[in-house]
Amino acid sequence: MPTYNFDKIIDRTHTSCIKYDARSKIFGTEDVTPLWVADMDFEVAPEIAEAIGKRAQHHVYGYTMRCPEYYATTQKWLKRRYNWEVAENEISYSPGVVSAIVMSMLAFTKPGDKVIVQSPVYFPFFSSIENNGRRILNNTLVPENGSYKMDFEHLERSIDHNTRMMFLCNPHNPVGRSWTKDELTKLASIAEKNNIMVVSDEIHADILFSGHTHTPFASVSAYAKENTITCMAPSKTFNLAGLSTSIVVIQNSKILRTYNQMLDNYHIGLTNPFGLEALKAAYQKGDVWLEALLVYLEGNRDYVYSFINENIKGVEAYLPESTFLMWLDFRKLGLSDREVQKRLVDDAGIGLSGGAMFGEGGSGFQRLNFGCPRSVLENTMERLADTFK
Ligand SMILES: Cc1ncc(COP(=O)(O)O)c(C=O)c1O
Repeated sequence: MPTYNFDKIIDRTHTSCIKYDARSKIFGTEDVTPLWVADMDFEVAPEIAEAIGKRAQHHVYGYTMRCPEYYATTQKWLKRRYNWEVAENEISYSPGVVSAIVMSMLAFTKPGDKVIVQSPVYFPFFSSIENNGRRILNNTLVPENGSYKMDFEHLERSIDHNTRMMFLCNPHNPVGRSWTKDELTKLASIAEKNNIMVVSDEIHADILFSGHTHTPFASVSAYAKENTITCMAPSKTFNLAGLSTSIVVIQNSKILRTYNQMLDNYHIGLTNPFGLEALKAAYQKGDVWLEALLVYLEGNRDYVYSFINENIKGVEAYLPESTFLMWLDFRKLGLSDREVQKRLVDDAGIGLSGGAMFGEGGSGFQRLNFGCPRSVLENTMERLADTFK
């Protein structure tokens, strides 16, 4: 088995990457260890770098279409990783997962319609809905024993005749749940009863820790298969977020036609040549690198989780089942969000994502990205403890 050096510190500054180069804008100072936006500080798998390098050597970077290999490679990945059978003609595309979510909403809802979200959740869900004149129906997640569960009873009670769609985050950012088949099946039955279309954001599907498997929402029932738009990507898994290449799976031909029409309407149906090569290399040759990454990330997760829960009394870490993001509860300290943020930046020199932006249930929390070398976390944790103990 090849070895990969996830401990390597890579200087990402001056590459226009937002994690480092936007620190002044976000935190008011360059002097923070950035554990915020959700990309990782690791080099990509060598096979991906090689494929991109080879394509770059060609020196003509014109308009690019998706070759049959894009579809076949994706089909095999879905089957291999999630045991999910998807036909070639059920696979579409989007530059980004969020753009796929927005296009789906614009295509299948009208202004004034309600879209269900489960906060605290990835914040562009809110802006996507509100900026486009739709309304949010929030089915807040319920914290329980250091984890979260869905509130099905509230969901059933709240859905009304204006509720048309749900944005599901599966696995869930920021609370780190990898929803079980039972939970998703229950959700699918509520969607079916109320004729709700589900846009399932499964961008974190591959980052899974011991004992957890990913269940595509569309695979849990016949209704879900026919009424789900699944958004996936190699971007989180293989650290390719800048390459704007995502996958959309739609197993209902009418919905797929309408979605593809949206791609045409916005003229964004072509593909980034480097993203295409990266996707193919990742899905064809990236399994071994991914397995090594998951071992490393799980070590990071366990280290941060134990360190915080054992050493910092006022802060509680939640153990993520998926994602390289950890949800931290600062509420016991009795400080305002602003004060926590100020101490994190000014005293600890750490840039996290403030929980309040993840909506109801997020105030009092911070989200920490542990997709970085362990030594960075060790250093950061000492400063966190000094600041908050
Ligand atoms: C749940 C979730 N969806 C979507 C995205 C972003 O996807 P994209 O950059 O492809 O729009 C992120 C990034 O953090 C995310 O966590």
